[in-house]
Amino acid sequence: MSLNEKKKDLEFLGDMPADEFRKFGYQLIDWVTDYLTNVEKYPVLPNIKPGDIRKKLPSSPPEKSEGMEKIFSDVDKIILPGVTHWNHPLFMAYFNSSSSGPGILAELLSAAFNTNGMLWRTNPSSAELEQHTLQWLREMLGMPEGFWGIIYDTASTASMHAIAAARQNAGIKVREKGLAGRSDVHKLRLYASEQAHSSIDKSAITLGIGLDALRKIPTDNEFRMLPGELDKAIVEDKKNGWLPFCVVATVGTTSTTSIDPVDKIADICERENLWLHVDGAHGGSAAIIPEMRWILKGTERADSFLVNPHKWLFHPVDITAFYTRKPDVLKRAFSLVADYLKTPEVKEVDNYMDYGIQLGRRFRALKLWFVIRYFGVEGLRDRLRYHLYLGKEFTKWVDEYPDFERMAPVPMSTICFRLHPENINDENELEKLNLRLVNELDATGDILVSHTRLNGKYVLRVNMSGLRMELKHIEKAWEIIKTKAEEILRRLKIKL
Ligand SMILES: Cc1ncc(COP(=O)(O)O)c(C=O)c1O
Repeated sequence: MSLNEKKKDLEFLGDMPADEFRKFGYQLIDWVTDYLTNVEKYPVLPNIKPGDIRKKLPSSPPEKSEGMEKIFSDVDKIILPGVTHWNHPLFMAYFNSSSSGPGILAELLSAAFNTNGMLWRTNPSSAELEQHTLQWLREMLGMPEGFWGIIYDTASTASMHAIAAARQNAGIKVREKGLAGRSDVHKLRLYASEQAHSSIDKSAITLGIGLDALRKIPTDNEFRMLPGELDKAIVEDKKNGWLPFCVVATVGTTSTTSIDPVDKIADICERENLWLHVDGAHGGSAAIIPEMRWILKGTERADSFLVNPHKWLFHPVDITAFYTRKPDVLKRAFSLVADYLKTPEVKEVDNYMDYGIQLGRRFRALKLWFVIRYFGVEGLRDRLRYHLYLGKEFTKWVDEYPDFERMAPVPMSTICFRLHPENINDENELEKLNLRLVNELDATGDILVSHTRLNGKYVLRVNMSGLRMELKHIEKAWEIIKTKAEEILRRLKIKL
């Protein structure tokens, strides 16, 4: 058929017909409902090898339309067997990103609108809902007015923008002149604790500051940055010709959810005129609970901070709420308006494209709006409180069991511990034992835990922040972990 002949039939060139969309849309919602209801029946970690999924996919794309029935059936046959189920209540690894009904529906709507929120006028609803819901969230966190907000995709991207703003704030004209080959600027110095997330290292790489410029400040025995050490480092660096420009504090570090003493760090940053950025990716969300507000003490004096609703506020990945008291600096770092992007209302509105490297932006604020309204602030608080309670229960069990050793305090609901039978004290042996425990637990498919390293020691790490996690699940998790540990010790003939 020639193109002209085909054009006669406009349906051929258009989108999926409306009745078909409706039919498969309902079908997919039914599928998702059943999936979420029965998520526990799937192995948390799929039992497959690298390459297994690709082997099932044709090497070339289909020349002819395949129809939704066939596509849906392949979701069951090909995709589902290779999914790691983050929504599973025994997904206890990393920081859980569990998705909620309202979040999923908001994503559907966002895809349907398919707007690009680069400018206010390219979707006023997106721009204004983003500004507004971010102020709701700021208020929920107990943070004062005066923080301007923007949504980025991930915490890594948000921290990179914070550090870029800090670099802009250092007044060395990096925007115009770059950094390479300059003899007129001192080497920049960035500070974060030894426990800070690797995204801070990646920011140093991305921004041309370099890993050597990132000075890791030691922590106390609760894995919190030592402000005295920060102070000393700054004095020493200035003496040696460095230009300190930014400190990153963490509220809820990745390994142990330790909380840096932000207020003391803020004193130093104010005295030294350094940009203070607070990474509250996971832990920051806990501040919506009034009795947990203390974790953000001092953050009201920070230049910027972030929290990840996609970690502990039940939003589908990805959404990061980033706040700064100095949006003008962020704008000076990133704004570049090509002629074709100029709009008449520029003086009255914020065009979000001016505050980052991205031009195109998804309508992510819909998720915040749906999730906050559906659960209500009280509903979100209650869910987080419940996770803190689960964390306390699990901690108690670890502490009471003689062959487990807790390796860090538990300020939230993430527990670091290891198997440490009385008769083994060799660190290499303990490492092998715990590595084996993690691998064998994950291979069961019944549970997914992860690991970290604390003071050089390999430890198990479980996190309780999943939306579908109940006491019965963590009781089951504890039983699985204990039974597996005892089985390994018996196999290795180590007396319990
Ligand atoms: C403290 C902290 N910051 C940043 C990140 C990175 O988050 P994202 O995946 O959103 O970049 C994490 C991830 O776990 C984290 O724990």
